[in-house]
Amino acid sequence: RVAPNLISAVDEARHWARLMEMAALGAIPGPTPEEPGVNRACLTPLDRAARRKLIGWGAEIGLAASVDAMGNLFLRHEGTEPSAEPVLTGSHMDTQPNGGRFDGIWGVLAGLEAVQAIRAAGIATRRPIEVVAWTNEEGGRFAPGCMGSMAWSGHAAPDTWDMVIDPEGTTFRAALEQHLAAEADIPRRPLGGRPHAYVECHIEQGPRLEAEGLDIGVVTGIQGSRWFVVELTGKTDHAGTTPLALRHDAVQDMVRAINALNLLTRDPKDVLRFTVGRIEVSPNTSNTVADRVRFTIDLRHPAKEVLLARGDAIAGVVQAAVRDCRVAVTERFHAMPTDFQPEVPAAVERAAAAQGLKALRMASGAFHDAQFLVPVCPTGMIFVPCRDGVSHHPAEYSRPDQLAAGTRVLAATLVDLARG
Ligand code: GLV
Ligand code: MN
Ligand code: MN
Ligand code: MN
Repeated sequence: RVAPNLISAVDEARHWARLMEMAALGAIPGPTPEEPGVNRACLTPLDRAARRKLIGWGAEIGLAASVDAMGNLFLRHEGTEPSAEPVLTGSHMDTQPNGGRFDGIWGVLAGLEAVQAIRAAGIATRRPIEVVAWTNEEGGRFAPGCMGSMAWSGHAAPDTWDMVIDPEGTTFRAALEQHLAAEADIPRRPLGGRPHAYVECHIEQGPRLEAEGLDIGVVTGIQGSRWFVVELTGKTDHAGTTPLALRHDAVQDMVRAINALNLLTRDPKDVLRFTVGRIEVSPNTSNTVADRVRFTIDLRHPAKEVLLARGDAIAGVVQAAVRDCRVAVTERFHAMPTDFQPEVPAAVERAAAAQGLKALRMASGAFHDAQFLVPVCPTGMIFVPCRDGVSHHPAEYSRPDQLAAGTRVLAATLVDLARG
């Protein structure tokens, strides 16, 4: 059912070489000198260099680039029916600050390689195929993540994050305007669209496929997530002279708050995920009582009711737990649990089976741009195994053959979807 010349046209060595070339843009020390990590924050010169590289590779094979008002970048392969709704594939090119070589970028380069293979195999698709790189998926520089896909899909207004600042105090709006000015030579396209379908390749970011000796994860949906910021405001005092009874110690109140939140989010089944991943303390000196703490909460669950109930309880629990500080709890991001429509997972499953690959239907624990596409068009994802399930870390690794297998499944899936 899958053309053999399509499978052989996916070039594992070229695909891997491109991944490694991209990894050099923002390389940071990794577990060994041969395995660097990557820090490529969104809308930075490194991000722009990566995009230029992608545009260049696309141009070599005849793909036309365009950019929308959020900086989302598209490469278009024309269909025999140019007015037909395109099939969209892609992911993101930004990384975590201490990130790896595959999270995000593989999904974009898999799209490029798949389209290149389709063209090399001489397969004319009825529908156009577009490869997209969404802006700011990780939320590492500007929180939250998935801004590009949220604005594109209408999940949030494009100006929602204008005043969000990075650690240097640059606003998202300023960074985006600077970025768009630097890409002024690339044709503009309107924000939003109605693709026929969307399919995103990604490393699993969990241990299951590797542990079970499988090749492909057929992703059926994504658990929900909510992000909060808690701010505790007390009073600075001298650490050596101020009696405990007179203190308004923001760090001690943070400890009380987190202990109480651990009780709120306790789940014997370990399905509910609660993480405090970022803490900012002011003035952040060892001999001063802290007057201000800001910490983040990342809460996730596959069931909407649980995510709503526990998330809505957070502010009250923090308020009840702190003793000496003023409390402000703000929700920064939410994405409800999402089930993909059946069409794309079915196509991915067919493509994997036709190539003799071992596939498993599974839900994603990480969030992805794909979940914001669900209200727009049939959506799905393709996972490949990653070593020890590690991601968001320089040690993130998938083998060239594992990635190429996922890309071959993508190529066949795109041909299938672009026919319908
Ligand atoms: C995305 O990177 C996530 O945190 O799930
Ligand atoms: Mn990712
Ligand atoms: Mn990520
Ligand atoms: Mn992600």
